[in-house]
Amino acid sequence: MAVRARRAVPLQLMSERMGISLPSSSSDDTRAATIELRRVSLAFEDNQVLDDVSFQVGEGETLVLLGVTGSGKSVLLKLILGLIKPDGGEVRVDGRDLVPLPETELFAFRRRMGIVFQEGALFDSLSVLENVAYRLREDGETNEERIERRVREVLSFVEMEHAITKMPAELSGGMRRRVSIARAIASEPSIMLYDSPTGGLDPVTAHTINTLIAKLRDVQGVTSLVVTHRLADAYALARFVYSSDKQDLVPASENGGAERQAATRFLVLRHGQVHFLGTTAEIVASTDPYVRKFLE
Ligand SMILES: Nc1ncnc2c1ncn2[C@@H]1O[C@H](COP(=O)(O)OP(=O)(O)OP(=O)(O)O)[C@@H](O)[C@H]1O
Ligand SMILES: [Mg+2]
Repeated sequence: MAVRARRAVPLQLMSERMGISLPSSSSDDTRAATIELRRVSLAFEDNQVLDDVSFQVGEGETLVLLGVTGSGKSVLLKLILGLIKPDGGEVRVDGRDLVPLPETELFAFRRRMGIVFQEGALFDSLSVLENVAYRLREDGETNEERIERRVREVLSFVEMEHAITKMPAELSGGMRRRVSIARAIASEPSIMLYDSPTGGLDPVTAHTINTLIAKLRDVQGVTSLVVTHRLADAYALARFVYSSDKQDLVPASENGGAERQAATRFLVLRHGQVHFLGTTAEIVASTDPYVRKFLE
């Protein structure tokens, strides 16, 4: 299937380097995205990874997912992508339960989602160009000129256009992560799932990645689910917004961002359950000893 023409609008925005404000006048229906888990449970043999998990992420909202290693964060993202099925419960994307859908129908949903896997997961034998093009080819795009144009656009969004002919082995960890983001956004997802996007990165590169995440959220209205171990990242996303003028993060309060702040929520997974779910203000004020551990 050819890449649809209506996708051209946001891509144009990208190529304009985010020099303009939110495209509120757009009639692009891909923007209305929500995720909802209803009473989801999943065990691998006797390992009960998720046990009656419910939460919602509204359109344009950011959910920061916290939890110790092995608590089921990556599994949860894979459930939302429909890569694995739960033992019970519903995984709803835009109001539709993905659990009973066959693979053929899941494909259409997956096209609306971009994922940045924990490991970066680039194809080592493919160039940066082909890694990013992969997603477009998967979508059925066959016009080489259009593919290259699109690849250059998304690479310039993450400031990696100069590396288009490089192989993944020639890139640093932060560069690979940025290429992964470019690949994830190539087909204009309305939902972005980030699995520990700043893991193993220095604070400066982590800031670049957080800025990218905020840029997609604030300029394109992308619904985001961000897994992180670094509370500093979570706060950066909760308290800062992307400024097109400065091409950087600025405090939300300076940018009329009270709304944006409210649109970030935190979820702490523990023993397979939702231990905490609340706003930035609520997590900061929480007296729960387990939640406090994430704030230290
Ligand atoms: N395909 C699988 N088969 C069996 N067990 C699995 C599988 N995938 C995940 N698990 C188990 O599910 C649990 C949760 O794994 P998951 O990868 O979601 O953890 P995580 O919260 O992402 O941890 P980390 O912070 O280290 O990335 C772990 O106990 C893991 O061993
Ligand atoms: Mg993980």
